[in-house]
Amino acid sequence: MSGRISREFIDDLLVRVDLVDLIDSHVPLRKTGTNYVARCPFHTEKTPSFSVNRNKQFFHCFGCGASGNAISFLMDFSHLDFVEAVEDLASFAGVPVQREVEGHQVEQKKEDLKSLYTLMDQVAAFYIEQLRVTPKAVDYLKARSVKAHIARDFMMGYAPDAWNALSERFNQKNLIDAGLLVAKEGGQVYDRFRGRIMFPIRDKRARIIGFGGRVLDDALPKYLNSPETSLFHKGKEVYGLYELLEKNSKPQSILIVEGYMDVIALVQYGVGNVVAALGTATSQAHLDLLFRFSSELVFCFDGDKAGREAAWRVMDSAFSSLKEGRSCRIMMLPQGHDPDSLVRKEGLEGFTARVQSAQGLSDYFFEHVLQGLKLSEMEGRAQLVSKALPYLERLPEGVFREMMFDRLKGLSGMTALSALDSVAITYAPRKLPQLAPNRLSSSRVAIALLLQNPELVESVEQKNIDWSGLEFRGIELFRNILQVILDKRVVNTAVLIEYYRDSDEEKAVKALAQLDVFVSDEKIEEVFCDALDVLLKQAREASIARLQVKAQGKGLDAQEQERLVNMLSNK
Ligand code: UTP
Ligand code: MN
Repeated sequence: MSGRISREFIDDLLVRVDLVDLIDSHVPLRKTGTNYVARCPFHTEKTPSFSVNRNKQFFHCFGCGASGNAISFLMDFSHLDFVEAVEDLASFAGVPVQREVEGHQVEQKKEDLKSLYTLMDQVAAFYIEQLRVTPKAVDYLKARSVKAHIARDFMMGYAPDAWNALSERFNQKNLIDAGLLVAKEGGQVYDRFRGRIMFPIRDKRARIIGFGGRVLDDALPKYLNSPETSLFHKGKEVYGLYELLEKNSKPQSILIVEGYMDVIALVQYGVGNVVAALGTATSQAHLDLLFRFSSELVFCFDGDKAGREAAWRVMDSAFSSLKEGRSCRIMMLPQGHDPDSLVRKEGLEGFTARVQSAQGLSDYFFEHVLQGLKLSEMEGRAQLVSKALPYLERLPEGVFREMMFDRLKGLSGMTALSALDSVAITYAPRKLPQLAPNRLSSSRVAIALLLQNPELVESVEQKNIDWSGLEFRGIELFRNILQVILDKRVVNTAVLIEYYRDSDEEKAVKALAQLDVFVSDEKIEEVFCDALDVLLKQAREASIARLQVKAQGKGLDAQEQERLVNMLSNK
């Protein structure tokens, strides 16, 4: 494991990189006034509503609401996770990523990984060449009707039936690290893949991270996969994703099948949006990965018992992933078919029709839990609740969750049951940051301007505000932002909002960072100070009123007494 990327490095990077340049290199921008605009890369539109502000180093789309800094842009645009986005941004800026552990060790590691990636490329090229010169391998693919262009797009190859084909040609230690050689106890080594059709597995950045290999006959095991290595983590990768994204970076849905050959056949027949889990159950990490590219996942299973069991296992990971706007569907194939055989039999249209009529996850789920239960009996209804509840509890807050609970209540007839309600209460939506929704209140203006112009912190400092006992809407957020600006010496909006990534306040902060307060640059400080003065005045008056009420009732302690006197004299 390499170390964490240091916070200071991220801040520096966000200052060093110009968001306008970065975005312009992906989406050509046009200057209008103080902003740069383009047609939004995150939704389809005819007129540009995507705008980039150079001062704030912040982008925002008025059409779809996408917004953020350079890191957010790369995460969304290039489908990267946070660390990958920082790495890409660093390479855009031409600086090495700084991590928190001793740099030396990390650099070393990086070099090692680089040589492994190179090795994987060389080995894949070797396998491709071997396929070309091995008639029985070519015949096998022909017999399975794999078209040459598909074999080429997927870089399919052939591992010769020899024990030392790789070890004679490449560095042995690297081969072992890459999982391509097996080392025996006595120190002897041999090629892991022999006499197999080879399927390179690429990550979404086009790097080959592992291989799958299929025998040409009925020998066992039918498929062999790369073991876990520093490049390859089975539980996190899927087969075919790179090839899919090459053709379509925002697929409407992604079909998840079981086998390498299923992906190959479906792509060949024109069902493009397909990937395969690598001989493992679909994990939470798989779903998180795939949901980054599409909001709908369709799981495809063989119609046999094993397929039905696998379908049910997906429920384990799927329920936790179903945030707002995401959906899953389940598609069961007829007995005796897999996607490969079915698409060959029914063609693109027949297969697509089946995908389209795949069952929604909720229907599939309830059908499954209801199996064998007699709802006319109390025992049956109780069993239903105890079977279903553990899954429903995993659902993230939102409309879908509520609908699933409603459906369970309806089926079990246990509407008023305290057990169900207490569960529902536990998951009642968290309260949102205290900001008025649609009005440009003084507090929204003050917070928005502060976020957009962190240098306003000086105007606040000059006021020497005594915050004790003061309350106004959003005061916690306001003071929190002040603190971050002061502590971290934040210079622009991009750096500032980075501190709120994944926090409860992130949504509010991002919304306010792009809120248009409609003030010209020279008026910003004045408007900000006015808004802050209004807030402070209201807060002081409210505080005075509270203290006066208390003075007449319980009485004030010395501190409160002093505060009241001060406030009355400053009023
Ligand atoms: P299947 O046995 O369903 O094979 O395995 P398939 O995809 O239909 O392959 P063909 O059509 O006979 O060539 C489905 C997936 O399970 C994994 C592989 O990822 C395979 O694609 N698997 C299967 C293994 O990892 N090892 C095996 O021995 C068999
Ligand atoms: Mn098959």
